[in-house]
Amino acid sequence: MMAILIGCGQDPAEKKPSPSPSAAAPSTPSPAPRAHPVTQETRETYQFYCAQCHGTDGHGKGINASHLTVPPRDHTKADYLETRTDEHLFTAIQQGGLAVGRAPCMPSWGHTLDDNTIHSLVSYIRELCQCEAL
Ligand code: HEC
Repeated sequence: MMAILIGCGQDPAEKKPSPSPSAAAPSTPSPAPRAHPVTQETRETYQFYCAQCHGTDGHGKGINASHLTVPPRDHTKADYLETRTDEHLFTAIQQGGLAVGRAPCMPSWGHTLDDNTIHSLVSYIRELCQCEAL
């Protein structure tokens, strides 16, 4: 399947056309090698800053989730995330939900986390959903 970028993607030179996203063996979460791999630090960052809303396992059922008017995105569900580009996820994390037309209760992290960390979080979310960008 070719990756054709439409919708919110403005980056025509996105990574590379990845092989079949359906080849999702548990040990190889991401079909294409990523420029910003998931490290131990990525996982710790997610647990520290994201898990209270998105849950320790990314299912969107964090301890704070019931206090939000909009439920946190389930990072393990491919059906929405595979319709978003990596750039969309990056912007959502860096500038908050509002910046991508989503709910403001997704905070912005650009003042807390550097770009590399945010890129690796995008990789981590791709690992959780076992899906690739549109
Ligand atoms: C205060 C709660 C909260 C925290 C903390 C939080 N999020 Fe979110 N996040 C949300 C909510 C709520 C949404 C859903 C927004 C919507 O659907 O309109 C969301 C959505 C997202 C999305 C999807 C954007 C979209 O298009 O729907 C991504 C990606 C994301 N969060 C990543 C992160 C990452 C990475 C962190 C940690 C650095 C994090 N979030 C921390 C509440 C939170």
